[in-house]
Amino acid sequence: MIYLDNAATTSPKPLAVRKAVAGAMQTAANPGRSGHDLSLKASEELYRTRKTAAALFHADKPMKVIFTLNCTAAINIVLKGILKSGDHVVVSDLEHNAVMRPLHKLRERGVSYSMAQVIPGDNDGTVDSFRKALNAKTRMIVCTHASNVWGIRLPVERLTALAHEYGLLIAVDAAQSAGVLPINLTDSRIDYLCLAGHKGLYGPMGTGMLIVNSDTVPDTLTEGGTGSNSLLLSQPEELPDKLESGTPNLSGLIGLRAGMAFVQEHQPEKIAQHEYSLVQRLYRGLSSDKRIQLYTEEPRPPYYVPLISFNLKGTDSETVAQVLNRSGIAVRAGLHCSPLAHRKMGTEGTGAVRVSPSYFTGSAEIDRLLMTLHTLRV
Ligand code: ALA
Repeated sequence: MIYLDNAATTSPKPLAVRKAVAGAMQTAANPGRSGHDLSLKASEELYRTRKTAAALFHADKPMKVIFTLNCTAAINIVLKGILKSGDHVVVSDLEHNAVMRPLHKLRERGVSYSMAQVIPGDNDGTVDSFRKALNAKTRMIVCTHASNVWGIRLPVERLTALAHEYGLLIAVDAAQSAGVLPINLTDSRIDYLCLAGHKGLYGPMGTGMLIVNSDTVPDTLTEGGTGSNSLLLSQPEELPDKLESGTPNLSGLIGLRAGMAFVQEHQPEKIAQHEYSLVQRLYRGLSSDKRIQLYTEEPRPPYYVPLISFNLKGTDSETVAQVLNRSGIAVRAGLHCSPLAHRKMGTEGTGAVRVSPSYFTGSAEIDRLLMTLHTLRV
């Protein structure tokens, strides 16, 4: 199978990740719960994973790296742990349901939101539309770093500056950008960085992170055992324990560390360069086919992450994906859990066919996809 659905999860995972998970399955004990050597070693493994993440994203304190189930869980902690009745939030018009559904739910609590328009290729215009959407009750800007459907990148450094200019908090959904785009929490003081472990960081599914880069720490969504201060009935205030209850996914997190080490070794900018060259090859091939409908410019830095969504004119995207699947090519069609992003391009009815490469994708696979599409009959 030619796998071109890496924006959903990268596959295959690097050998080092697979070995790290398998090794942990054999020897790992519960971290922070017991005094024996295996438990202490497990705690050390977790700390090393926090340190690797802090180094990769230039965060100052490893203990402010919170492990979560996925990026969605990290976003939920931020939104539901911080926003109160009367608060207003500004989001972009490219957000995933990971942001929109919690915000929708929070309306019951009296939280409101407005939407700012992202203008592809015009960062001044995008920042301006966020500025215009702010009001006296705005507490937070929440935005994706890059659209999981169109690859359109948001100027999050400038949006962070904007948020801080107005004394607001900012949370960034970096599910689609981490491991590919540079993210530096020392230079850009994003308050909450929400991360998926299993996409561009090449870790296992079931791993995610929240890096708290602010003195405003979210309240808890869950409370429970932390292995610390057990006599206290109230949840410990210190991070990471405040936001991590119950036994963690140790083997997954050890695998995530191996994934982040893989990214560091191969360098995010080089991985990105490789992926850009593949999607640009694809874009040019698709542009020459009159049956194909494209929606964006050729994906290039700094305005896009390397992925493309398109349609075969007059054909539902799911149908195209099914035909490709029968030809041994895996892509994701439909709405990608981001109906907003589809509404923006007018593809709410048809969805779109998304192609997303990884470090492991080669140009022969892109050529095979192009050949299949050029001769596709549905
Ligand atoms: N959000 C993931 C995607 O875009 C799962 O496919």
